[in-house]
Amino acid sequence: MKIFIDTANIEEIRECAAMGVIDGVTTNPTLVAKTGRKFEEVLGDIVEVVDGPISAEIVSPDADGMVAEARGLAAIHRNIVIKFPLTAEGLKAVRRSSKEGIKSNVTLCFSPAQALLAAKAGATYVSPFVGRLDDVSASGMDLIHQIVQIYENYGFDTQVIVASIRSPMHLVEGALAGAHVATCPYSVIKQLVKHPLTDIGIERFLADWQKVPR
Ligand code: G3P
Repeated sequence: MKIFIDTANIEEIRECAAMGVIDGVTTNPTLVAKTGRKFEEVLGDIVEVVDGPISAEIVSPDADGMVAEARGLAAIHRNIVIKFPLTAEGLKAVRRSSKEGIKSNVTLCFSPAQALLAAKAGATYVSPFVGRLDDVSASGMDLIHQIVQIYENYGFDTQVIVASIRSPMHLVEGALAGAHVATCPYSVIKQLVKHPLTDIGIERFLADWQKVPR
């Protein structure tokens, strides 16, 4: 499974990239707004740190505007992947952009039918939001299983990104379901590293090391 970091904060990206566990980055308008920085500057910094897919979201309401935005962002760096919303206009823009070789991440996916349409339109990635489904008493992980099954049934190349991750179990269950990617907030990546038995083990080894004659 590939792990992307879901943030626009360059310090968080640098720290996780230094551990060698980051294959790519996803951003969205909310995450970029949190930085207080210009979008193009943020993207310019990210592509210097991570050599993998970097998702950048467009905001136009119609396909023409989306395609124009996508062309501009894709021109920044070969690793930029354009995030299109899962709407009729978004799907039209995915189809047109994919013919120009622009990679896409179809976002705000909440149903298996939507995911099927994204794959048919030629999406490189689809992003089902598991946390936001869990928030409204639906099962985000059931959706991941359904999409993986449908894509396998018909041999679609579109990769499933487990998105809107809130806890380490979303990544683990997504991996067991066969999702291709998990995009995790910085806080979840830090949680993934930790295990109390590792900390206790280190403490004991250090204490015992003091007893070794030198
Ligand atoms: O990858 C999508 C993600 O950024 C949305 O997360 O926590 O806002 O639902 P959240």
